[in-house]
Amino acid sequence: MKGKIYKGFSRLAENEKRKLVAHLCEEPGITELEMNSFIFKDSIRREMFMDLSENTVSSFHLPFGIAPNFVVNGNIYHVPMVTEESSVVAAAASAARFWADRGGFAVKEITTTKLGHVYFQWFGSDKDLYDAWTHLKISLLSRLKFVTSSMVQRGGGIIKLELSDDRHKTDHLFRLIVEFDTVNSMGANFINTCLEELAQGLDEGLNHGKNHEDADCRIVMSILSNYVENCTVTVEVGCPIRNLLGITSGMSPLQFAQKVELAYQIAWNDVYRATTHNKGIMNGVDAVIIATGNDWRAAEAGAHAFAARSGQYRALSQCEIINDHIRIWLCIPLAVGTVGGITNLHPLARKSLEILGNPTATELMSIIASVGLSSNFAAVQSLVTIGIQKGHMKLHLVNIFNALAATPRQRQLATEFFSGQKVSFSAVKQFIDEH
Ligand code: MEV
Repeated sequence: MKGKIYKGFSRLAENEKRKLVAHLCEEPGITELEMNSFIFKDSIRREMFMDLSENTVSSFHLPFGIAPNFVVNGNIYHVPMVTEESSVVAAAASAARFWADRGGFAVKEITTTKLGHVYFQWFGSDKDLYDAWTHLKISLLSRLKFVTSSMVQRGGGIIKLELSDDRHKTDHLFRLIVEFDTVNSMGANFINTCLEELAQGLDEGLNHGKNHEDADCRIVMSILSNYVENCTVTVEVGCPIRNLLGITSGMSPLQFAQKVELAYQIAWNDVYRATTHNKGIMNGVDAVIIATGNDWRAAEAGAHAFAARSGQYRALSQCEIINDHIRIWLCIPLAVGTVGGITNLHPLARKSLEILGNPTATELMSIIASVGLSSNFAAVQSLVTIGIQKGHMKLHLVNIFNALAATPRQRQLATEFFSGQKVSFSAVKQFIDEH
């Protein structure tokens, strides 16, 4: 068997954990000192950072960049993006600049309802459950007041509480469906606290102290849903087709527009293309979500489920040409916040929000969706014209230089040589070895 089980790793002191990990690396490996050097130096931030997660031994850096000049609903934003992928920031920025001169991004629709569920099994009669529910609903809502009061003061709280019969999905299964408005916070903790309180109220109200095996109501679990079909934003760009001139790579604006429209149709109908098309959207979306300290796993899960809402996985963005006008739009679920969580704790997340002018959650949703649409448009524009590899490999060349530890002279010679050549790792390596 390869490797060894370590018991009690979490109980080791921080430096002992680091020593152990350094020891795991092959020579010359990362040293304890190197790992330490990536962590904040000042003690307050260091402690906060180390406490964000468990068993922390170091920090993992990613590039933090700015994609300038996003015009969204008439306002200009210079958007912080965190990504390791070459050309994502450059492509988003270039599409943002292009659309800035053509009216920018317009938010067409925005919804903000978040969802959570309490799943339980019911073994009693339907009549008993529905009779009890009428009173229980009122007492559950009042029981929650101590949790919801400050959210209500901020303009949010529970919007709806419903009982759903889910026995067509799973035997005996019922569900409380709870809708929330969490205003400027993502609200995950708030929602889950409410749900667990509701579950306890349900248990007490329906079981009257009976133990789990004898109880008519058996709570299964309480959890928010990352499928936020009513927390979506739709952003759109568009212009007369003749105004596309400049990015059409030798095609006429009409030929280019028709090819772009076709590319969006393919992504709408074909799951293979839809997945990659949506990945291109998420390149931009995730980068802003990470920069602002939001939960990109939630955004990813929600976006892809939403893409499959019709029963077929489709593109999240669409394009249509009507008369001489092209219109491209993206509708995406985004449960993000601008207060709470690590948005205010992580120094760079806080800076990102400051750079964006301390937006509200809906403003941030609009910005993120605009960046997603920019990334998407830039990718499709390249794909239907010169392909993505030319621009991508030009930027990737620098990564290859770094991987090969090329000298400044080798970099200069290789940059000149590969400006007219296809870039591949092996070709660059051969060139560097020979110079
Ligand atoms: C690469 O990270 C993203 C693209 O593949 C997106 C797309 O194909 O639309 C270029």
